Amino acid sequence: MRVPDLIHKKRDAGSLTRGELFFLIEQYAQGAVPDYQMSAWLMAVFFRGMNAEETAHLTEAMLRSGQVLDLSSIPGTKVDKHSTGGVGDKTSLVVAPAVAAAGVPVPMISGRGLGHTGGTLDKLEAIPGFNVGLSLDEFRRALAEVGCGLIGQTEEIAPADRKLYALRDVTCTVESVPLITASILSKKLAEGIDALVLDVKVGSGAFMKDQQSARRLAESLQSIATRMGKRVVALLTDMDQPLGCTVGNALEVAEAIETLHGKGPEDFRTLCRELAAWMLVLGGRAADLRQGQEQFDSLIRSGAAAEKFRQIIERQGGDARVLDDPGRLPQAKEQVPFKARRGGFLVKMEAERIGRAAVALGAGRAQLEDIVDPAVGLVLHKKVGDAVETGECLVTLHVNQSDRLAEAEALLADAFVIAPAAPSRPRPLVLETLS
Ligand code: URA
Repeated sequence: MRVPDLIHKKRDAGSLTRGELFFLIEQYAQGAVPDYQMSAWLMAVFFRGMNAEETAHLTEAMLRSGQVLDLSSIPGTKVDKHSTGGVGDKTSLVVAPAVAAAGVPVPMISGRGLGHTGGTLDKLEAIPGFNVGLSLDEFRRALAEVGCGLIGQTEEIAPADRKLYALRDVTCTVESVPLITASILSKKLAEGIDALVLDVKVGSGAFMKDQQSARRLAESLQSIATRMGKRVVALLTDMDQPLGCTVGNALEVAEAIETLHGKGPEDFRTLCRELAAWMLVLGGRAADLRQGQEQFDSLIRSGAAAEKFRQIIERQGGDARVLDDPGRLPQAKEQVPFKARRGGFLVKMEAERIGRAAVALGAGRAQLEDIVDPAVGLVLHKKVGDAVETGECLVTLHVNQSDRLAEAEALLADAFVIAPAAPSRPRPLVLETLS
């Protein structure tokens, strides 16, 4: 088999066989295929696509490039949740402990911030001492003892995806449904889960800007995961405005803690409730969505979800005192208001710009090796539909390096659309559920 023949075949819209895809991925993971050939192949896939059969084989080849965790010794249906990436999305910090508190094991391998979107690992690392680098053995033990482990992708998990993802990032081949499907599922299926809830984001802050492309991605993820024997529920959810009121790692942890204590912004609470409820259904703890929602409410009300988060933090070496005193989280030196230039109603937010403004302050990375500042970020004081007065504070910027402020403010300047009349009807948070 020759790599140029495989590139040629895909370039001319052919379908690759299982053997061809396994060969290509194995050889690439071993360093036997140069990046220039893999880049050409990725671009061919980007334009020509892949059928369901090819996508399933690619997913399996990437999954088999590393270890697949065997969690059969841990009783219960193992359920995880994955979001395709958004701005202000800190749902994992609420949903994972809440579902684990109900007795459903949650093995969660998460990612870092990517582009304008945040990542669960960066948020967890804002908790002093929290170690996301457990080995797979330690992860298994944490799961057995506490019911939940939250770690990053290790060397052993889908190494082909690590290499391919980095290459896709610099060859503009990220936004491809089969490539995203194989990338996400190769990591998630390696966790040894039985079921998965997918939160596919749609809108200005998401990779999928319109509902049709998001639905195509959700259907692809669902069909390939189902083929591989997993139960999957996929939700299409709104990402036209940031989720909740905070963007930035420590600020988001504080908001998640508030929500675990029964407060927190309504949109964020609602999405956590919906995602957790589906996880409880898949985990066999609730008969239907409604029962799952009621159970989530009671796990929050009783303090069981917050107590589970305390156990998770302690188990992974973090300072669990942040749960009672979020002031222990890293704090920025300066708080700067960003004010509305005119009054009216907030009718639209450009979530991607808001995410980029947080990255400009240091909450994310412009380059892979950049160090994230856990303290910086944004607190939003308005949501779409709210009335705004001229000069009113729209956002408080939490800043550590004042030379980063101008870029963040320039991004925010075009991020809010204020009109004389209120928008007719806000878009629902959950747009579709594919169960
Ligand atoms: N998240 C992933 O893990 N992979 C992708 O390709 C896109 C989002």
